[in-house]
Amino acid sequence: MYGGGSQSRARDQKSKKNVRKQVVTPPVKRFPMTNEAAPTSTKPSSFVPPNRDALLNAHHPNMRKKKEIDPKMLLNVQDYHNQARATLTRNAYDYYASGADDQLTLAENQNYYAKIKLLPKVFIDVSNINTKVSLFNNTQSIDFPVIIAPTAMQRMAHADGELATARAAASLKTIMCTSTLSTTKLEEIINQPEVADTGCMWYQLYILKDRDFTKTLVQRAEASGFKALVVTVDAPRLGNRESDHRNKFSLPDGLSLANLMDDLKKNGEGQTTSALNHYFKNQIDASLTWDDLDWLRGITSLPIIAKGVITPEDAIKAHEKGCAGIVVSNHGARQLDTAISTIEALPAISHALKSINSTCDIFVDGGIRRGTDILKALCLGAKAVLVGRPVLWGLAVNGEQGVKEVLTILKKEFELACMLCGINGTEKCSNDFLLMPGDTVMDKWLRSKL
Ligand SMILES: Cc1cc2nc3c(=O)[nH]c(=O)nc-3n(C[C@H](O)[C@H](O)[C@H](O)COP(=O)(O)O)c2cc1C
Repeated sequence: MYGGGSQSRARDQKSKKNVRKQVVTPPVKRFPMTNEAAPTSTKPSSFVPPNRDALLNAHHPNMRKKKEIDPKMLLNVQDYHNQARATLTRNAYDYYASGADDQLTLAENQNYYAKIKLLPKVFIDVSNINTKVSLFNNTQSIDFPVIIAPTAMQRMAHADGELATARAAASLKTIMCTSTLSTTKLEEIINQPEVADTGCMWYQLYILKDRDFTKTLVQRAEASGFKALVVTVDAPRLGNRESDHRNKFSLPDGLSLANLMDDLKKNGEGQTTSALNHYFKNQIDASLTWDDLDWLRGITSLPIIAKGVITPEDAIKAHEKGCAGIVVSNHGARQLDTAISTIEALPAISHALKSINSTCDIFVDGGIRRGTDILKALCLGAKAVLVGRPVLWGLAVNGEQGVKEVLTILKKEFELACMLCGINGTEKCSNDFLLMPGDTVMDKWLRSKL
């Protein structure tokens, strides 16, 4: 019975206490859901000789004191997230983790994956799984369908920042897309021997009002060996990320938006949130339209990928403008809150491009944290997925090695999901393996018989 007055409440409390006494459960240690550091062990830790990463990070302004952790206990992307949260300062962690406004799309990007059910088929030869994917009419290929999304300011996560991420991508034979807002110059990232020899890099571009400066960026990217331009189309202005305002986010001393320094200086800007907002307000061109891709087409021969497409209509426009690919993306939910989650948007986009026989490759990002998420995205028509935050968490935890570990986890999980679903190659992924929200197996079965 509810609302039983103070006496019965007291009785309830007492009986609850008794129940608690009887049930002996081992204490569960959880990382807090706030941005506070995870609890440290009370056991005295044995001496670990400092390694290069530890030395590099010792005085890094974005790091808390590193907690010792057995890397073997970091089993999945969420473990890396928890560990990164315990390592990064609030300024850096919030900048990486946050989404726009109430962060509803941020949650939905992940949650919608859980609503899609897998329909595994059995007794299929899955002794060999081909995870390779070829892109843009076989002109590029990756070893498994996970590409590193462009994320700004990676040196806040680790002193090696973008340099480490690029090396990790190259060693796992996948692609890293470098952000215009990187804290390392684009030439330095791609000119590392490990990357220049085996790597494949894409360059993310904001088309700035200053077209001459934008042209310089494009020419620099092309000349230094980047293999595609990923044009972000969903950021006429920065989204409203309230934690950054609360933290008065700014790039820590010693770090800079290396590719833009000349332009920032020229415009007399600093690097606080308000200064960056100001820069974006002044330099990100809110008047851009699809026709501006013609200008871009005229100054580069690189394949162009439109990143931030979320409707079938826009996917068709990207195809008509000759884009080699699109990224179905809501910018990691950092722009427009309550915008549709990307995996929910994907089926209609795949359908629309298929119906016009488009050869435009479809990529999707946002909320991909498990191998089963990757599998679902491929079954809904994506060639590959992009991951943003998971890479930042790996980078924060253990630099290049941490990024490699996160990518390896995703690759292994994807392989396992394929095997258990009865899929032995990425080209075999199809809608047949999925039950979408609201559908039933019976309806799906009956439709297949029509
Ligand atoms: C910290 C952070 C910085 C980002 N910076 C950029 C950027 O500079 N340019 C861009 O096009 N997208 C940027 N994005 C969006 C990512 O490219 C990608 O769309 C998003 O992270 C995917 O979602 P996920 O983090 O859930 O994987 C950023 C995302 C994050 C989290």
